[in-house]
Amino acid sequence: MRNKWIIIFPAILWCLSCQYSTETYKEGKVSYEFVCAPCHGNNAEGLGTLYPNLNHTDYIKINRNNLSCWIKKGIGPDSTNARPTRFSDQVMPPQDKLSTIELCNILNYLNARFWNMEPFTLKEIEDQWSVCQQLKVKSNN
Ligand code: HEC
Repeated sequence: MRNKWIIIFPAILWCLSCQYSTETYKEGKVSYEFVCAPCHGNNAEGLGTLYPNLNHTDYIKINRNNLSCWIKKGIGPDSTNARPTRFSDQVMPPQDKLSTIELCNILNYLNARFWNMEPFTLKEIEDQWSVCQQLKVKSNN
């Protein structure tokens, strides 16, 4: 009887991974505050004309499918980034150290607090990321 939990428990964890739960909310909050908040602020309020707020919804909603590429590849002046800047010359550096699960947790944390859309799934992030990986990637030589 006990053995079945060896299978069921990891299965439960896997189902919870990334999609909304209090655990992934907490993990998303920690990662957001560590990686994104230094620029975008703890409440995603932004900083004047330097860093945009992320707690608005309309623009984010129409660009749902672009979010993970913008974040992973950054926003900036050349073709190595996912998108040109739209506010100022202030560049958003690529956040390419984030795993898909960290990125998914961050997006679901912001979504739960501000955006109120369907939750992001890991598969969705992976699909978005596989498309933007085909864009030209910066090489060191
Ligand atoms: C070093 C500062 C910095 C960090 C760190 C940073 N960003 Fe940004 N981010 C920017 C800047 C600057 C822009 C605006 C670029 C422009 O002019 O379009 C931006 C733009 C964005 C946008 C597009 C907003 C819009 O309205 O066009 C999103 C979404 C975003 N960031 C999410 C994130 C997330 C999520 C993280 C953490 C994983 C993060 N950023 C980390 C500086 C930063």
